[in-house]
Amino acid sequence: MRLAPEQAAMLEGRHGWPKQIALEMLVAVGKAHDAPDLIPVRSAHVVIDGLALGAPGLAFLERLVAEGGRFVVPTSLNAIAIDRRHPPADDGERLQRRMLEACEKMGALASCSCNPFIQGIVPAFGEAVAWSESATAPFVNAVVGARTNREGATALAAALTGLTPRYGMHLERERRGGALFEVTAPVAGLDRFNLLGTLIGRRAAGRIPVLAGLARPSLEALVGFGAAMAVVSALPMYHMVGITPEAPTLAAVFPDGVPEPEIVDEAALEAEYRRTASATSRRVDVVSLGCPHASLDQMREIAGLLAGRRVAAGVTFYVHTNRSTLEAAGAAGVLASLEDAGIRVTADNCAVLSYERLPRAAQLATNSAKMALFATTLAGVGIHFGDVGACVAAGLSGQWEGRWNSPG
Ligand code: F3S
Repeated sequence: MRLAPEQAAMLEGRHGWPKQIALEMLVAVGKAHDAPDLIPVRSAHVVIDGLALGAPGLAFLERLVAEGGRFVVPTSLNAIAIDRRHPPADDGERLQRRMLEACEKMGALASCSCNPFIQGIVPAFGEAVAWSESATAPFVNAVVGARTNREGATALAAALTGLTPRYGMHLERERRGGALFEVTAPVAGLDRFNLLGTLIGRRAAGRIPVLAGLARPSLEALVGFGAAMAVVSALPMYHMVGITPEAPTLAAVFPDGVPEPEIVDEAALEAEYRRTASATSRRVDVVSLGCPHASLDQMREIAGLLAGRRVAAGVTFYVHTNRSTLEAAGAAGVLASLEDAGIRVTADNCAVLSYERLPRAAQLATNSAKMALFATTLAGVGIHFGDVGACVAAGLSGQWEGRWNSPG
């Protein structure tokens, strides 16, 4: 792998330990992917999940600070496992707060969201960036047309050095379509785009999926589709013909010839629904909306659906968002409508990325395939899956009145 003199100096430790260890990581990843060299990135998005990284993660971040580590490109942070509005309640929450403080000392923007796009943190078309969090990469690549691989700790290394190896999504040929899906099922609304996302994530089997036949989705549906696709696959991008910027035509994404389309019909979406909805009774204990974090429009929609009614006794009804959207919702009067109805609006974290655990054997209603999968695998809850209207109605009554997957 070719290194510029400045990069070789970093690798030798002449710019300090933080840059040295970061560059060692980037070179190792680059070599594993046959990257010819390193390229500059314009921004990084870093995951500092205290639940996953724990005490070793904190020790590493604090050592970076102590040894003079500083982020050399604009660096945003993903959702964290606490809501910063509340003082830390235990050692885990204190650890998460210290991780955040360490990153802020290195220059990070404490955006704390899995959906930075609704905060206005958006790269430009064609830019090379290094973004972690599975939900962000598909949006960055597919919707924005910027370029990132699905980064892990390498996003931190990129933040410290401003560099990333040239491979994967940074190469034109790797961004081309690998499989064509003709969607004949009607898909509108966030819940249906989520089901389409997990379906495509599985069926694409590692090939970059190209979807045809769709009407233009909302921003929230594009975020939700990508997050759902990425939670069941390692895919970093997709194309929607006539919708996403690198797919104006089929020929643009299949320059060597357009393959036969695989059909995605209503039966396929129905099977995906059956795979997702796992609740065993109509009871609803928890409602979770805002995965990835809700936009102000989504919060407004939920407030409108409440129509002045209150959440049922015994139901915990979450709406997850980030701090800046929460503040905008406060200024617009939307936050008060939600909280007056008994909804817990969380900022920075969510029902599964939190030190507060979901009760086991609970039944959770959501319109997010990512939340459904995480809540099932991490907390063993049963899932009611449906559109935002069905989820709000369930929160108000404590019963799932929508479609139900039970054989009974
Ligand atoms: Fe975000 Fe939590 Fe979903 S971190 S993507 S709301 S699982």
